[in-house]
Amino acid sequence: MKKIIAAAVILLLASAATVLAEVGTVKRIPKPDEYGNVDIDNYSQYSGMAPVVFEHWLHRSIYTCRVCHVDLGFALKADATEIRAADNEKGYYCGACHNGKMEYKGEKIFAACSTMPRGGFEPADIKRCERCHSKGRYPDREFDFYTFTKGFPKARFGNGINWMKAEEEGKIKLIDFIPGISIERPKLGAQQDVVITPTIKGMPKVLFSHDKHTVWNGCELCHPELFTVKNGASHISMVDIFQGKFCGACHGKVSFPLIDCQRCHEFRRR
Ligand code: HEC
Ligand code: HEC
Ligand code: HEC
Ligand code: HEC
Ligand code: HEC
Ligand code: HEC
Repeated sequence: MKKIIAAAVILLLASAATVLAEVGTVKRIPKPDEYGNVDIDNYSQYSGMAPVVFEHWLHRSIYTCRVCHVDLGFALKADATEIRAADNEKGYYCGACHNGKMEYKGEKIFAACSTMPRGGFEPADIKRCERCHSKGRYPDREFDFYTFTKGFPKARFGNGINWMKAEEEGKIKLIDFIPGISIERPKLGAQQDVVITPTIKGMPKVLFSHDKHTVWNGCELCHPELFTVKNGASHISMVDIFQGKFCGACHGKVSFPLIDCQRCHEFRRR
């Protein structure tokens, strides 16, 4: 066991060094309500608006990852989608839901960007803009992280929430279909769990659960872009994961972070 941990720590330090060399600075560990927040700013500041802050914790409590990242076409990388105000106004991206018409729990979801009307914006419009264009603005919010997630099963890292359990226990009920946008398709059969054996001898195996991941991600978020559909063919390594590839495309950014070694490497169950 000691050997395993020593090997793991050496690798961890080596890969951390690689990542730091790339990033250049040490990032501070985000607070639970900040973990998974994405700043979007391709055009906002340029147009005199504050950058947009998108919160995963709230949206993932309501929707599957699949709905946004497959059906609505958001990239799995900050700023890569290049969302325009006009797209939102036409009902794409944020505007697919934030259109002032779609309802959540009986209330209309507030609308996204709109062009300036002739007489200029009303104060209420400007308040609405600032709910999304919120970087450095601290607008009044409807959902407080700690109130909203009270009673959710806890985890040690990331948002401090065990999202997997929250879904299994019915604390959250994920919407996986947006009328008019998502396409009804037959559910693909259950896939077997995959055991991934690390290349370093003695390092605990990783049990990858297809079932558990499919609830959130469908199939298309992982295949064929992140993983080949053949066991062992993807050549996953921990260094790659730390650099945001394979499992690291989600884990470490939105799903539980990589410091939670034991949740993937099952030290106990071996
Ligand atoms: C539901 C969230 C949301 C709301 C509300 C919202 N926006 Fe946006 N807006 C965005 C996102 C996301 C972008 C893309 C940000 C980027 O890349 O800089 C954006 C981009 C913009 C841009 C950038 C220029 C361009 O051509 O794309 C402008 C200008 C803009 N919004 C104006 C507004 C105005 C004015 C309001 C209020 C009437 C508003 N937005 C409300 C989400 C929102
Ligand atoms: C309501 C829509 C929505 C949902 C639900 C959602 N995302 Fe996202 N996600 C986004 C948007 C918007 C971005 C930013 C894209 C951009 O800036 O181009 C993003 C970005 C990301 C990124 C890149 C972050 C970074 O820092 O580069 C990851 C990883 C990600 N999402 C994973 C997930 C996972 C995993 C889930 C489910 C647990 C999920 N998302 C659920 C909308 C969503
Ligand atoms: C799949 C539907 C969906 C998409 C896409 C979506 N949202 Fe939301 N969003 C919701 C719902 C539902 C709520 C909660 C109801 C409400 O506030 O009207 C919400 C709430 C919010 C809030 C309010 C937080 C608070 O506590 O007041 C912000 C800000 C927000 N979204 C920003 C965004 C931005 C920015 C995007 C695009 C980058 C986006 N959303 C895309 C469905 C969506
Ligand atoms: C999101 C899941 C996940 C987390 C969290 C995780 N790992 Fe891994 N790790 C993997 C996978 C998958 C492999 C399998 C690569 C392979 O086939 O060799 C792996 C492989 C390894 C290896 C073997 C060498 C290699 O690159 O294949 C070591 C050592 C390792 N991980 C250490 C760690 C340490 C230390 C942590 C915590 C800091 C950690 N891992 C966290 C998924 C994870
Ligand atoms: C979160 C990511 C993820 C999701 C979601 C996912 N898979 Fe996989 N899949 C994997 C990984 C990782 C492997 C193993 C790849 C490797 O070892 O190189 C795999 C392997 C496979 C294989 C090869 C199995 C074998 O025995 O050779 C098939 C087939 C497959 N997936 C189908 C699916 C289908 C169908 C779905 C949806 C129901 C799905 N996957 C959802 C990550 C995912
Ligand atoms: C497309 C995004 C995505 C990718 C890629 C991905 N995961 Fe996950 N994974 C999730 C989401 C979403 C959850 C739910 C929990 C969370 O978000 O913290 C999850 C949960 C898990 C869990 C927790 C299971 C439990 O019962 O608590 C493990 C373990 C895990 N992932 C391992 C892996 C491994 C190993 C890989 C790579 C082979 C991988 N994941 C790739 C999105 C992803």
